[in-house]
Amino acid sequence: MLMRTSDASQIVIIGSGIAGLFCAIRLANAGHFVKVITKQRPIDSSTNWAQGGIAAILDKTDGIGLTSHIEDTLKSGGGQCDISVVNSVINEASDRIQDLLDIGVDFEKDVDGEFHLAKEGGHSSRRILHSKDATGKEIERALSQTAEHHENIKLMPNNLAIDLIQCEHGNPKAGISGVWCLDQTTQTVMTVHADTLILATGGFGQLWSQTTNPSVATGDGLAMAFRAGAAVKNLAYIQFHPTALAVKSDRPFLITEAMRGEGGVILDKEGLSKWQTQCKENGRIISPEPYSFTLKYSKMGSMATRDIVARAIDRQMKITGDSHAFLVTSHLDENLLNSHFPTISSRLERHGLKLGHDPLPISPAAHYAVGGLPVDDIGRPFVKESGEIFPRLFAIGEVACTGMHGANRLASNSLLEAVVYAARAAEHIISNPPTKHQNELPDWRADGLDNLSEHTPVVHDKNELRQTMTQEVGIVRRFSRLNRAARRLVLLGQEVDRLWRESIPTRSIVELRNLILVGQLVTEDALARKENCGLHFNQDLVKE
Ligand code: SIN
Repeated sequence: MLMRTSDASQIVIIGSGIAGLFCAIRLANAGHFVKVITKQRPIDSSTNWAQGGIAAILDKTDGIGLTSHIEDTLKSGGGQCDISVVNSVINEASDRIQDLLDIGVDFEKDVDGEFHLAKEGGHSSRRILHSKDATGKEIERALSQTAEHHENIKLMPNNLAIDLIQCEHGNPKAGISGVWCLDQTTQTVMTVHADTLILATGGFGQLWSQTTNPSVATGDGLAMAFRAGAAVKNLAYIQFHPTALAVKSDRPFLITEAMRGEGGVILDKEGLSKWQTQCKENGRIISPEPYSFTLKYSKMGSMATRDIVARAIDRQMKITGDSHAFLVTSHLDENLLNSHFPTISSRLERHGLKLGHDPLPISPAAHYAVGGLPVDDIGRPFVKESGEIFPRLFAIGEVACTGMHGANRLASNSLLEAVVYAARAAEHIISNPPTKHQNELPDWRADGLDNLSEHTPVVHDKNELRQTMTQEVGIVRRFSRLNRAARRLVLLGQEVDRLWRESIPTRSIVELRNLILVGQLVTEDALARKENCGLHFNQDLVKE
């Protein structure tokens, strides 16, 4: 039986995706007791929705494989990746994959027992481990089952972190001593002590009307850390996934880039019609790729990196006035597609669409925040004012900006980065156990607060926020539109601030407050940029 070696100190992780749970399990295996705060069920994370997979070269001696994974990552990152980070993460991949296998993650294998490797945009070869088209779900299953049964881990579902508690109010250099959380079962605010606090809170795709992210992705960790004095970086780099299913639905749905890796091609209405006519005239099915408008933007066509493909679709939709483009798979083996992509296949059926048969309506949707809290090589954020390490705080996974992705993340590199940094943060804490705080923590300011009598204004403000971000801070930007967004966000911020100061917190107010702050930071970063690179594209900066 494992013994707790550090009963005296408290380690708190906020977030239960791959980064949070992997870190918790590693710490718990080393004898540390860990609390994991998560705002819904532990499985309600972006990880759980990840389809594609985790890019990794499994053979540490495969120099050519490692080099080409590094080169593809650097190329996708538009010259802005931190080369030493890329090198070290990619070289660490095989060890972390072994850890995931040891925890019980089941990656797809071929008939001969070798891992089946998929390919996605920007990858020059097949190197993506996956579990059919529901890789994140399989990873989350294994991690959450392990965490649930671990005696050193206390999962705290339905707890929404509201704000970090500083050791000395207004002095980030003194570090963090805890977090206030809204217990959504009792609707009370709890004060949770933490000697070390690890943010694994994911991204903020909910800022946009079209997103592939789950409803929990509201930038809570980023906003809390910023309010506590942490630096932020590269927030303008928002990755839009090119192929979200464009049908009316209560829930966004991604069509993995691995579908293009297996030969799926993006066409517009005209290209589709020309290709279909040509197939009829030839009396056989020919490749649709030459009919793809994406070739105007890159010779890699539908398999170019995400920034290029998403922008190409956005541009083409504006030119044609159409609300979507198509992902065509009818030239591919239907049975093979259905066996590789069962989740997508059954989802499409619900919308009356058949994989390997019907052209699939797709459009870009906000998918991943490349920027975040800049961290050092073990996941420690920095104090904004001084640039010093932020004591007692870690940030891992999508909330962090490690330098791995530069200006544009290569597909399937994020689960890898998350697991590598989760392990590094855990190892550091294991070798340097946190010292226990002695100070009393302040309780949440509750006096004079009323229950919010109506939630309608919060709903309206959230809709307005998402529309503003979608229209003015989307894939293609302009200074005039960014300024318009900045002005609107100030007004929204004032409205929500008033509600915030007067009301007992609810999940919707807490999230909206965070989203507005993050929206302002994204817009500010976009306005400050004088050059286009990777995922930031401002039409006014294009030199004719
Ligand atoms: C996908 O399956 O296309 C998404 C993978 C990723 O975002 O890395």
